[in-house]
Amino acid sequence: MLHARITGTGGFLPETVYTNAHLETMVDTTDEWIRKRTGIGQRHVAGPGEGASDLAIPAAEEALGNAGVAPADVDLIICCTTTPDYLFPATACIIQDALGARKAAAYDVNAACSGFLYGLTSANAFIVSGMYRTVLVTGTESATNRLNWQKRDTSVLFGDGAGAVVLEADDSGRGILSTYLGADGSGADLLIRPAGGSKVLITKDNLDGPECDVHMKGAELFKRAAVLFEEAAQKALERAGLSLEDVDLFVPHQANARIIGAAAKRLGLPEDKVMLNIERVANTTAASIPLALHEAVSEGRIREGNTVLLASFGSGLTWGAAVIRW
Ligand code: UT7
Repeated sequence: MLHARITGTGGFLPETVYTNAHLETMVDTTDEWIRKRTGIGQRHVAGPGEGASDLAIPAAEEALGNAGVAPADVDLIICCTTTPDYLFPATACIIQDALGARKAAAYDVNAACSGFLYGLTSANAFIVSGMYRTVLVTGTESATNRLNWQKRDTSVLFGDGAGAVVLEADDSGRGILSTYLGADGSGADLLIRPAGGSKVLITKDNLDGPECDVHMKGAELFKRAAVLFEEAAQKALERAGLSLEDVDLFVPHQANARIIGAAAKRLGLPEDKVMLNIERVANTTAASIPLALHEAVSEGRIREGNTVLLASFGSGLTWGAAVIRW
């Protein structure tokens, strides 16, 4: 049976780091509050003009190098992002050109923090159906450039970065065993940046107004997150015919260390089976899972034959999970 196997991972973080202490000089917050409520200690921040593609390209190059795949052999590039370079064309096309992946089709996916799992699920379907053999999926965000740093309920949470994976058709039994995706648009207002699309235009009058800010009902999201992380994880494991005892490493979306702790507790997973990097990178939205996955692989926390569980929850609302035999 054909599976989509991750044969290479890559990651990239922009050079500039804002510590919590630095944020204390920009907005009414404290290192203590941020650490206690979120687990975040610092975040990487893209430079002016450093767009989502600029972060994704080095991550993709590293993933391709680790997979031993030439850009010319990539059939499809899926770029998962809420902060594309442009409204159009797709950031995936910019990445395709920079990599020299001439034969690759390319498109973007926006499912916010669940973007990478939506992209991974699409890549899996293309490979399992036999339509494509080699797919590059990248999650990338250059979000802080347009954050309102004065809005402390959201500005302390986010960071920039990119992660990438190369998936190849494989019949050895390794690869993605199952995926599960969910959505509930009735919760769209719980995490939204209203202006910039076709519904609420950015005008000279609202440029510095609330419509251009990120609006988040944090407590409401928090309540739903732990429950939906668990639901998605259980559904994906069920589809794979596996149980939680089979999981070697849980790599969740890094939105808040307390949400991850609550989800792990509900799932009955011990701390040493949970990948956490939020302290160093904060919430990087669609880049969060592939970055954490890349770090886990680089640190030797994932080895051949391991069962890896991914899960996410975010704006949309969207959520999802995947089970991978590494
Ligand atoms: O990425 C995917 C989707 N996102 C999520 O899933 C995020 C889910 N939510 C969360 O992670 C948490 O709700 C937050 C981290 C956003 C907030 O934590 P919280 O424990 O829910 O705090 P809160 O919003 O209930 O605020 C508690 C207090 C408030 O003050 P009062 O009203 O109690 O006096 C806030 O004004 O903390 C205050 N506060 C801050 N204080 C210092 C809010 N932000 C800050 C801040 N620094 N940065």
